[in-house]
Amino acid sequence: MESVIVAIDGPSGTGKSSTSKAVAAKLGLSYLDTGAQYRAITWWMISNGVDVHDADAVANAAGKPVIVSGTDPARPTITVDGADAAGPIRTEEVTSKVSAVSAVPEVRALITELQRTIAKDAEHGIVVEGRDIGTTVLPDADLKIFLTASPEARAARRSGELKGVDVHATKEALIKRDAADSSRKTSPLAKAGDAVEVDTTELTLDQVIECVVTLVDEKR
Ligand code: C5P
Repeated sequence: MESVIVAIDGPSGTGKSSTSKAVAAKLGLSYLDTGAQYRAITWWMISNGVDVHDADAVANAAGKPVIVSGTDPARPTITVDGADAAGPIRTEEVTSKVSAVSAVPEVRALITELQRTIAKDAEHGIVVEGRDIGTTVLPDADLKIFLTASPEARAARRSGELKGVDVHATKEALIKRDAADSSRKTSPLAKAGDAVEVDTTELTLDQVIECVVTLVDEKR
């Protein structure tokens, strides 16, 4: 089987993670959740008393944590300085602060380098999901997908994942985070010119997975 690199970008709640993991598992590829890496560095900043709104402080500390991502789609892992970070990176505090940290150019430079190394080392190819994979991290990816969905559908999916959370509040928080991610100066959330856009609003997860698998097959 020929090695293939797939970039899947898009805003929060469009089904990037579920789709990327399933496609990677089906096709025997590695999987990388780049949002988890930005969350991990944010968690480290919070845990170490760094003010996430002080860009200089964040830039100075950016090289300190050692972030390691496991790329098995059946069991993706993330550690920070050897500690399992899978749970702590999903808290509301990390979610509300990650956009500030990920906007700092020094943070992006370090994480981007890490992502390129992981993609290069993936023997059979990899599915990499994020916000700037097709535009900045892997501009030569074999296939670029940009997933979208209406804000209502995205909020409904997110509040379904986080039981008991209010849909309206989730929608407001999603819109705020997407606006911050789309308007930052360094590699904002954006669709690459050569990406295939898939609107998932009216599609089931299985339909999205099938659509992406078909697109990958066409490339091999
Ligand atoms: O995908 P997830 O919602 O976990 O991403 C968390 C945050 O990480 C995003 O809101 C964004 O600020 C940042 N991110 C990024 N570039 C990526 C992936 C995520 O800036 N490639």
